[in-house]
Amino acid sequence: MLVQLPITNYQLSITIMTNYRKPRKVLVTGGAGFIGSNFVYHWCKHYPGDRLVVLDALTYAGNRQNLAELEGKANFRFVKGDICDRPLVQQLLQEEEIDTIAHFAAESHVDRSILGPDAFIQTNVVGTFTLLESFRQRWEIEGKSTDYRFLHVSTDEVYGSLKPDDPPFSETTPYAPNSPYSASKAGSDHLARAYYHTYGMPTIVTNCSNNYGPYHYPEKLIPLMCINILLGKPLPVYGDGQNIRDWLYVEDHCRALDVVIHTGEPGETYNIGGNNEVKNIDLVYQLCALMDELAPELPVRPAKKLITFVKDRPGHDRRYAIDATKIKTELGWTPQQTLEGGLRRTVEWYLSNRDWWQPLLSPEYQSYYGQVYS
Ligand code: NAD
Ligand code: DAU
Repeated sequence: MLVQLPITNYQLSITIMTNYRKPRKVLVTGGAGFIGSNFVYHWCKHYPGDRLVVLDALTYAGNRQNLAELEGKANFRFVKGDICDRPLVQQLLQEEEIDTIAHFAAESHVDRSILGPDAFIQTNVVGTFTLLESFRQRWEIEGKSTDYRFLHVSTDEVYGSLKPDDPPFSETTPYAPNSPYSASKAGSDHLARAYYHTYGMPTIVTNCSNNYGPYHYPEKLIPLMCINILLGKPLPVYGDGQNIRDWLYVEDHCRALDVVIHTGEPGETYNIGGNNEVKNIDLVYQLCALMDELAPELPVRPAKKLITFVKDRPGHDRRYAIDATKIKTELGWTPQQTLEGGLRRTVEWYLSNRDWWQPLLSPEYQSYYGQVYS
């Protein structure tokens, strides 16, 4: 027979303490972009009691539609604005009593950084500095609370390019950025690091591999290929198509960032990756096969007939791969989505969300692609 012993006050308080989570007031910069919007949905689902404020300039890559399901929700606020606008950032941090920043806002596309690097330096370097400095002021006024967090979301591209036999990037791999984009992200990573070492401000940097999934703007490889297959347009593969990327489903990235915010060590960096190294040409073949299977009417079938090798991206990094041992062993995160399953979900999303991507194919979008492939 099981005897129910009376619970002591001590046991009760321990239970309450371990289950209790103080609600956070989170500023998400770039929350109308690809990863930012996926992160906002993840956070709202898991922490409905938290206050969430999105600050986004709505550049060509930002889309208010990405957050449509949250419009009008009590704990959610969208602010259109630039992270370089210091008075605006300071006002938001103060009036919303922000204790956590998840910083996604950036110019994110390597090809665009080659065509015009200015915006990359402005947003990625000056913008990150503006956020760090504004957050420092608030954190100091609030007595340097150890609960505060500044999560700087960065990229594996800061490590440069791997040779075929090199081990994957770890947190101790030296920085060697090769494009204006990755150099600007490297600069912002160093600023975030310096704010911890100089001021003790609780910053954390994450360096992640290539993401894919819903709301991915169709300038990046996977959504561009999906949409071009549906439109019967050429599939431009840069160079010889042998470049390797390490793909991670965006939901897995968002879970990793959640874990880092809650249990990561201030001052540390964490690499995040899917352990899915694939050559570009093989990935494009997989997408073609999925489209052949899932899309009822394709203008060109089999879709692989559309593959066209084009001029290579200048300074094109040959291979990226992430060693995610640290976040796995120290924080217990591992990716859950297989590449095959994630690609299928992604293709299905683009097939059933034509209303999302069709308006994005503007004349400006078309003329941009003319410049890249010429
Ligand atoms: P994205 O281009 O889809 O979104 C960027 C968002 O930032 C957009 O909503 C845009 O409007 C906003 N923005 C740009 N400039 C701004 C400014 N000055 N002020 C306010 N908002 C501004 O980018 P993404 O792919 O979602 O990437 C998000 C972050 O993750 C970036 O910092 C990127 O470097 C990093 N990252 C991306 C990947 C990837 O595979 N996409 C991988 C690793 C790291
Ligand atoms: O590694 C993380 C990075 O991944 C992020 O920091 C960047 O923000 C994100 O844009 C992404 O950078 P990449 O340059 O790797 O992604 P992109 O989708 O532009 O290209 C992926 C690979 O595909 C790359 O080797 C170039 C190639 N490519 C790309 C496009 C757009 C093509 O062959 N054809 C294309 O049309």
